[in-house]
Amino acid sequence: MAALTRPLRVDGTVRVPGDKSISHRALLLAALATGRSRIRGLLDSHDVRSTAAVLRSYGVAVPPVGDEMIVEGHGASSFQQPSTQLDCGNSGTTVRLTSGIAAALPLTSEFVGDASLSRRPMGRVARPLRAMGAVVEFPGSEGPNGASARETLPMRVMGRALRSVEWETEVASAQVKSAILLAGVSAGVPVLVREPVRTRDHTERMLGEMGATVEAIDSTVVVRPPTGGRLAPLDLAVPGDPSSAAFFVTLALLADAGTLELPDVCLNVTRTGFLRAVRQMGARVETAVGEPQGGEPVGTLRVSPPSSPLRAISVGARDVPAMIDEIPLLACLAARADGTTEISGAQELRVKESDRIATVVANLRAIGVDAEERPDGMLVHGTQAPLAGEVRTAGDHRIAMAFGVLGAATGRAVTVDDPACADVSFPGFWDTLRRLTHAAGR
Ligand code: S3P
Repeated sequence: MAALTRPLRVDGTVRVPGDKSISHRALLLAALATGRSRIRGLLDSHDVRSTAAVLRSYGVAVPPVGDEMIVEGHGASSFQQPSTQLDCGNSGTTVRLTSGIAAALPLTSEFVGDASLSRRPMGRVARPLRAMGAVVEFPGSEGPNGASARETLPMRVMGRALRSVEWETEVASAQVKSAILLAGVSAGVPVLVREPVRTRDHTERMLGEMGATVEAIDSTVVVRPPTGGRLAPLDLAVPGDPSSAAFFVTLALLADAGTLELPDVCLNVTRTGFLRAVRQMGARVETAVGEPQGGEPVGTLRVSPPSSPLRAISVGARDVPAMIDEIPLLACLAARADGTTEISGAQELRVKESDRIATVVANLRAIGVDAEERPDGMLVHGTQAPLAGEVRTAGDHRIAMAFGVLGAATGRAVTVDDPACADVSFPGFWDTLRRLTHAAGR
């Protein structure tokens, strides 16, 4: 039986939680600084709590994650030998960024994580950290004759006095770039990282604010530690997360009427690829740029449904890094666009919290959208047919939220098997979605 719903009008204001990438970096860098850092608006989610807990294992006094935090930093040399394994939960950012710091410490750090994180590739951080002089081992994955068969967690990092490195990353990954930059500042040596496509640059922006010398040209960045070696503490208000805002931008675009405002969203160009993509599809998203926050451009987004249907687009390798986490959502929006959307050059999606190419395509099909998997992306054939079925998230927060939005916008016949996994990056997501859609019976 078709669900009874009224036209969807999405009005009002949604203040999205603090940016996840900036929140991780704020805690790590506050610990590396010398002095008292003040951080406001930190994201309180499972992933950020993992970073806080790992820092506490090194003896850093990190208070409970909250809206206003004071962290007393005493530099990398104050880190102590952890007495347990470092549990990074579901968080790739926690393990990859912290491993960079660990490489410069005269300590042994053993990183572990949940089942999803334990499948994700870590060789990409191990290789540059070894080139700098650290010893990195994968004790759980020895093949015949002690050869490492898989470079996955557990990962053991034995820090050394590191040397400078010039590293060309084989994949565009802000986590790998950041691991190298953090290894450099923790060891007091300059580093250069060249990427195939420029990725989010929050680490280098924050390091610049803290006294390091940062030169960025195109997709190459050089970071030199501050003279005297000490990083100044942070005074930072974390802007809203554009990846979280994207869910409600999509809801407003799929609605029948209304205007939604999203204030204080980070508008760093390395993060706004999704907004560029939806504009290319014909959406109008207005941005009112405000005062920068924590060295990041910030503004208010204003979104209404388009006057004519959105059009399919093509997204390729050069576009992907600036919308890497929004691609599942873009695929859900494309399900309601005119024509076939093609996503290519996105093979990185296969090694995220789930294989996001396979998960997205399987779930689109499960609810009645024609979609095809490609090795490096997918094709999504837009439809206006009613959608219904059960979405299997594979425990992946972004899959849960992307399909939650598509389901709410198109009726109430799409169910999500594990809504709670949204807490990894966006606690309160379902409450906000319900608040915006309940009047329409969703
Ligand atoms: C992140 C970088 C991206 C992104 C992740 C957060 C970061 O990962 O997908 O959610 O904070 O640096 P990769 O560096 O693996 O692309």
